[in-house]
Amino acid sequence: MSALIAPSILSADFMNLESELRRIADADFAHVDVMDNHFVPNLTLGLPVFERLTKVSPVPVDAHLMIEDPDRWAPAYAEAGAASVTFHAEAARAPVRLARELRRLGSRAGVALRPATPVEPFLDLLAEVDMILVMTVEPGFGGQSFIEGTLPKIRRARRAIGESGLDVWVQVDGGISRDTIDRAADAGANVFVAGSAVYGADDASAEIATLRDLASVHLH
Ligand code: DX5
Ligand code: ZN
Repeated sequence: MSALIAPSILSADFMNLESELRRIADADFAHVDVMDNHFVPNLTLGLPVFERLTKVSPVPVDAHLMIEDPDRWAPAYAEAGAASVTFHAEAARAPVRLARELRRLGSRAGVALRPATPVEPFLDLLAEVDMILVMTVEPGFGGQSFIEGTLPKIRRARRAIGESGLDVWVQVDGGISRDTIDRAADAGANVFVAGSAVYGADDASAEIATLRDLASVHLH
């Protein structure tokens, strides 16, 4: 199994999203951060733009919804063509029902945890989701430093998944770069979001390959 790389277009040029997506045609997913200015103090894009992104993206789109009331809004992102829809555990009222709805609509379902949210209360969700996203920065902005204190949580999530026998991915998001990706992989992550590291590189394609190689040698 090789590591999956999902560049975040949060660090792309929003005036040229189609060509910016072409720069990451070698990636496994395009990670799209949807922020509503309520769940996080930042505002990005919503459904009409998202739907167009899924149409022009050369790779499957991974939606990360940093929004209030995902129970109400998330299914539309699956209908709009997302390959994967991740909602925040802190915001969902009925996470089991929501995850089932996302899967019924043909998307993978993910549940995200802020750095301070423990994983243990959500382990019952493992059978209902395809991915756990352990945030490795406080959600809201790109270009922040990786929080080392999240490594034990990545480890606990990976251990619980191993014990469950389920095939659930562990995604990390925030501060992932050549300097940090090996530690996240070693702790048990297998899907790596990288915004500034990929879009800040002169050759995004080469950066994706480097990150994938660095992570792959540490994969569990
Ligand atoms: C932050 C977003 C991330 C962000 C990561 O809230 O969820 O996806 O784009 O950016 P970097 O990789 O620059 O930390
Ligand atoms: Zn994200």
